[in-house]
Amino acid sequence: MLQIAVPNETAAHENRVALSPAAVSQLIKDEHQVLIEKGAGNASNFLDLDYTDAGATIAKNRNEIFSQADLVLAVQTPSEDDLGLMKKGSTLICFLWALQHPKLVEKLKSLGITALGMDAIPRISRAQNMDALSSMSSIAGYKAALMAASELDKYFPMMMTAAGTIPPSKALIMGAGVAGLQAIATCRKLGAVVEAYDVRPAVKEQVESLGASFVEVPLEEDSTETKGGYAKELSKDAQERQRQVMHEHVKKSDVVITTALIPGKPAPLLVTEEMVADMRAGSVIIDLAAENGGNCALTEAGKTVVKHDVKIVGPINIPSQLSSHASLLYSKNMLALLKLLIKEGELDFDMDDEIILNTTITKDGEVVSPTLQTN
Ligand code: NAI
Repeated sequence: MLQIAVPNETAAHENRVALSPAAVSQLIKDEHQVLIEKGAGNASNFLDLDYTDAGATIAKNRNEIFSQADLVLAVQTPSEDDLGLMKKGSTLICFLWALQHPKLVEKLKSLGITALGMDAIPRISRAQNMDALSSMSSIAGYKAALMAASELDKYFPMMMTAAGTIPPSKALIMGAGVAGLQAIATCRKLGAVVEAYDVRPAVKEQVESLGASFVEVPLEEDSTETKGGYAKELSKDAQERQRQVMHEHVKKSDVVITTALIPGKPAPLLVTEEMVADMRAGSVIIDLAAENGGNCALTEAGKTVVKHDVKIVGPINIPSQLSSHASLLYSKNMLALLKLLIKEGELDFDMDDEIILNTTITKDGEVVSPTLQTN
């Protein structure tokens, strides 16, 4: 039996919560105790009463959440002060981004906290139901299409009206991973004509199955994909070739949604200032990679700017805008991970399990993550 605690998220613009009332019910059924900070679910519209109905206890204060729990479940990494309250040997599961935050890893190690990163779940079939990054990216792709439709000064679908026929808008999606595929699907549902591009030719079929056309850029690289199915960084020549072809497609598009990502690297530059300058006035770019430096040269993270008469939106933390469903999916991912981790009511770290090995960053005062050990 574990004492599990869920704090209120304190990061700016964070509306999600780590456990939904439904997930709490499940943990209570498994005979764990769940402590929730007062108001933790408010921004996702899960009220304290929903949690107590599900069997949770509302903590007296924030201190109790961190100091009493065997297991703290959060969305964002708690502050250093919060971590300082945690019991030695207790466990924290949340987004950690350990590779990018070496000081945090040192802190967790020195405090003797066992920390698991929800961002470190490997993208393998068996871990699909725990893959919070995919759940969140799918939300981001959906919302990016809605943002584009609402920022654009045109209809998305073809409209046959008494005053004449309006042609459909053209959307170009760059990067057809989880977010990109959902952006394609949503733009198609809204009636736009959609083109998509990705360095990995393997996604052509998926793009086409969603009713979009795939933009081909012949590259001379041996392979653009890692063994794990992620994109590799392109050579300078290949990047230049890619930009020449994409320039022609960008300038004909009313909407460009960029989602290109190479794990552990800054976002690749796909849309240059020259391309933006060649777009029609009023066109819209939604840059999902804004937080990572942006796929467009003119993106400003967290802002909407107008450059060369083109609106460039650099949204951050989109999943928080759909907080209710984002929290629901995050909780389901969390429950699936806990199902793997908890044996006979206690945490059991089976390091022979690929998922547990890759997700566990620190344990017993050591850095155990193989990714961090090789970096
Ligand atoms: P993913 O790894 O599933 O997809 C990224 C895609 O980009 C891959 O298909 C990859 O092949 C492609 N790519 C890489 N380099 C490229 C290049 N040079 N040209 C064309 N395609 C290229 O990643 P996911 O989960 O779809 O996330 C996409 C982006 O959305 C990431 O930057 C992520 O950080 C961001 N994101 C932003 C959110 C927000 O709130 N702003 C929320 C969730 C995700």
